[in-house]
Amino acid sequence: MKLHVVRYTPRTGSRTARLLDHALAQLEVTPTVTDLGASQPPLFDTTRVDAYVARNYGGAELSAQAAAAIKPMDAYVDKLRAADRVILATPMHNFGLPAPVKAWFDAVIQKDRTWTVRDGQYEGWLTGHKALVLYTSAGQYEEEPGSYDLLTPTVRQLFGFMGFQEVDVVAGQGAAADPDTVEQRLAAACGRIDGVLARWRA
Ligand SMILES: Cc1cc2nc3c(=O)[nH]c(=O)nc-3n(C[C@H](O)[C@H](O)[C@H](O)COP(=O)(O)O)c2cc1C
Repeated sequence: MKLHVVRYTPRTGSRTARLLDHALAQLEVTPTVTDLGASQPPLFDTTRVDAYVARNYGGAELSAQAAAAIKPMDAYVDKLRAADRVILATPMHNFGLPAPVKAWFDAVIQKDRTWTVRDGQYEGWLTGHKALVLYTSAGQYEEEPGSYDLLTPTVRQLFGFMGFQEVDVVAGQGAAADPDTVEQRLAAACGRIDGVLARWRA
């Protein structure tokens, strides 16, 4: 198993980090890590988006300056492609992905690097990959499918677009409850993580 961890757990005492620590303790592998809390990903300013479109859609050779501008995005792609399992750990912010996590997706979902168009159809290239997404949220959304939780459908869509065949999402929801209830919910989430990792190891 070649594991890549993408984490955005900057808050002191992060509950999401506890879920991630639990998952990593179950796996006897040394992952490569992208820590989006420690170093935030570049966004598509004019230089970067022009370079991306010229190269990935137009097949252009980039100038050294343009290539350097999107090199950090390409480095995320290289780390993702080199793995076959990905754990993404993030809190829910405003019902969805925090901006640095969305920026990471924007960096790695690159035409002809992680997906392409073949015979008029989208084709994800990372078909050997599986993802486990760990998130925590103050609110509880499980009983209202399709309502306020934008994070779950987003990560399923984005990893799925790149070809991932399995995308499991384990949520520790309801972090605004009393401390005992929160601990019970996190323990239940850890149990669900164990189930996914058992499948990964099988
Ligand atoms: C900027 C911000 C936005 C948040 N937005 C939401 C939200 O939309 N829905 C929700 O249920 N919780 C929201 N929360 C609460 C966090 O998702 C929750 O406290 C989570 O457990 C934090 O994860 P952490 O402990 O890893 O930092 C938000 C927290 C912050 C700081």
